[in-house]
Amino acid sequence: MSATEQISIRVEPTKTSRLSQVDFNNLKFGQIMSDHMLVANYENGQWTDVAIVPYGDLTLSPSMSALHYGQAIFEGIKGYKFADGTVSIFRPDKNWERFNKSAARLQMPEVPEEIFMDGLTKLLDVDREWIPSIEGTALYIRPFMFATEAALGVHPSISYKFIIITCPVGAYYSKPISLKVETHYTRAAEGGVGFSKNAGNYALSLYPTQLANNEGYDQIMWTDANEHKYIEEAGTANLIFRIGDTIITPHGDTILHGVTRRTIMELAEEWGYKAEQRKVSVQELIDGIKAGTVTEAFAAGTAATITHIDRIGFEGQDYTLPPVEGREFSLKVLSYLNDLRYGKSEDTHGWNLIVK
Ligand code: COI
Repeated sequence: MSATEQISIRVEPTKTSRLSQVDFNNLKFGQIMSDHMLVANYENGQWTDVAIVPYGDLTLSPSMSALHYGQAIFEGIKGYKFADGTVSIFRPDKNWERFNKSAARLQMPEVPEEIFMDGLTKLLDVDREWIPSIEGTALYIRPFMFATEAALGVHPSISYKFIIITCPVGAYYSKPISLKVETHYTRAAEGGVGFSKNAGNYALSLYPTQLANNEGYDQIMWTDANEHKYIEEAGTANLIFRIGDTIITPHGDTILHGVTRRTIMELAEEWGYKAEQRKVSVQELIDGIKAGTVTEAFAAGTAATITHIDRIGFEGQDYTLPPVEGREFSLKVLSYLNDLRYGKSEDTHGWNLIVK
């Protein structure tokens, strides 16, 4: 039997909803989880027991391999509610594709469409009431998979859990952020796992980020492993710059290929900007800031959406970016995406997946 045959999703509704505890006017990021989660188990080469169940703790073996050897991957997606109550998910097919690329790199099984895509639409249907509709809020959707085999030998696990949890969220960053260019620690090297969304890529960022925080910066700007000369991404999102009339994002297999980043670069091209995915050196950025040709810099991600960068620290010097009010391109993208995601404009690209 193939891994995708006979998959049906059982629903076990909660008896005690926590919805009344949520203050939808004051949402923080990732603090309170919705009533239900989707859980699927991979055993003997097949996905089984796919079910939407009340959100709750799991019982797991202390020797399970994800805890020791890090076979753990995840995604971040957002669901929105239009003024008329329609529920929509932003480009989840792209996250599903990336999830399976991450899985392949970490020697984990693919999650079929019937579980990932049908599972998340069914989950949002069940937890419809949890999806906020105030502009700037969304339902954050976190699909993840980890190795569950209880064994300490280093080998690909024979069993896995795939889970989707969701939570109503407000902004991840509520104001522009400052970045310190990281020239000592490294996020990813060529041939490594930089392009994959695995837990370890975030664990390794915590220490250098703390050092940057201690110096007064919000986040770090990763640079390449070889020379620490080329910009990669920020600790929690991709990076995009406007230099003259060109919209530029760093590129390569050491970088996470974000869905928000991809969307913005597609829009830039469609709107007649030059859109380039290429190496950007720190020096090019700093020279451009000094010369006034770098007019916009922002972090782009599902959680971060578009977060403006106001200051960049490099080799003990601070470089200040122009005021946010004049950032024509990123402000236009923000307003375009807001209108689209809250159903106020026509979805000409087919990016909204409507939950029936
Ligand atoms: C996302 O943007 O969805 C992420 O997973 C980033 C994480 C730091 C919250």
